[in-house]
Parts: sequence; structure tokens; C-alpha cells
Amino acid sequence: MLTGSKQQDLNCTISYVLDSLKFFNVAKLIPSFTHLPVDPYLKGDYRFRKLSHFQITHSHLVKLPHRAMLQSKAYNPLLGNVKREYAELDQALVNLEEFQLLILEFFEFCRRCSTSNKVDVHQIRITANQHVGNPAPEGIHRDGVDMIGIFCVNRDNIIGGETHIYQSKDYSLAFTKVLEPGELLVVNDRQFYHFTTPIQARSMTGGVRDVFVLTCPGLLAAQN
Ligand SMILES: [Fe+2]
Repeated sequence: MLTGSKQQDLNCTISYVLDSLKFFNVAKLIPSFTHLPVDPYLKGDYRFRKLSHFQITHSHLVKLPHRAMLQSKAYNPLLGNVKREYAELDQALVNLEEFQLLILEFFEFCRRCSTSNKVDVHQIRITANQHVGNPAPEGIHRDGVDMIGIFCVNRDNIIGGETHIYQSKDYSLAFTKVLEPGELLVVNDRQFYHFTTPIQARSMTGGVRDVFVLTCPGLLAAQN
């Protein structure tokens, strides 16, 4: 049980890991992305988003009460210090075995590099049509947590969306890949920066990129 241990007591050897989750059908997660509300904090109406907070207890996912999200301006120059409210993930999604396996898989990495047993799940759809969609409008950044995960659920009729990991000091590229559905990239957020390039639609019918962005611990605003 890691809760209560000190960060320096952990034997964290993870820098970044690409994990291919081939043991479940990722397509089961796609329908829950089709009715996400638009992210009102970003201009352009191309990002759609929900957010829920979880705790992992005895290898089980426990959904925590609704809380707003807050990032420091030091980590997010675009939306730092802005208290953001997002709708909760659909309960039908949370109940899916595939969803729970994904979060528990991510937590297996977190428990080696974090004393927290809390995970935030950001469900995000980026759209592109005649305009590009920008998965990381804040640029190259860290999230200000211990560990992050990016899990690709769906890429439909798009090009781009290449995820980059940078060394913290000089922004030299450490890793780059277009994450395909079923691929989970876990990054030590204390050591590395990340970024994802814009997406463009392949045709006028438009395209989407669906991901879960996971953080351990969460990014919670103080409760009033
Ligand atoms: Fe990020």
C-alpha cells in the first residue's frame, strides 16, 4: 500500500512507456465520445470534453464526487489559474469493463512513481473539418502531476496528431509517435514535457481524434 509513503521512498524507474492494450476491444469505448459537450474554455469549438475523478482502492475503481479542475499558470499558460467545470463521464462508460481495465492498467505504472491513489480521467474529442484541431493549444508542457497517460480510442479520417515527449531541460525530442487506437503512452510528468501536433481532416466530411488523458494525482480546485 503506497498511500502515506514518501515520494523519495519510491523506486521509480519509469521515464515513459508505450503500452499496447490488445486484451480488450477498444471500439466499445467509442460511442461514449459522440455526445461530449463542447469545451467552453477554448475558442473555436473544436474540443469536446468530460472529466471525472477516481480513487483506486484494493484494485477497484471508486468514482469520487464532482470537483472542478484547476491547473497552475506555471504549467498551463493558456488556462492556468482558471477554475474549470466539466460534466461527469457517463455512468455507462464508467461501468464498462474495458474502461475500468484501462484505468487500472495506468495505475499499475502510477503506483511505482506516485504516492497518490487518485486518477483524473479526461475524456476528450478533438475535431477537424475545414479548420485544424489542436490537441495541445498550450504548447509543449507538463501537467504538474506525477504521471500522465494518453490512451488513443479512435482516429477517424485525420492526419497528424503526433505525440511528442521532450527532455525537460532543452526540449530535445525524446520520443514521437502517432498513437493508434489501443495504445497507452505513460509519461513521468516530473521528468518529461509532452505535446501533440494539430490534426487535419483528410476530407471535407471532417475527422476526429478521441483520447483519454489520465493524470495521477488529479488536478483539483480547492473546495469552497
Ligand atoms: Fe498535458
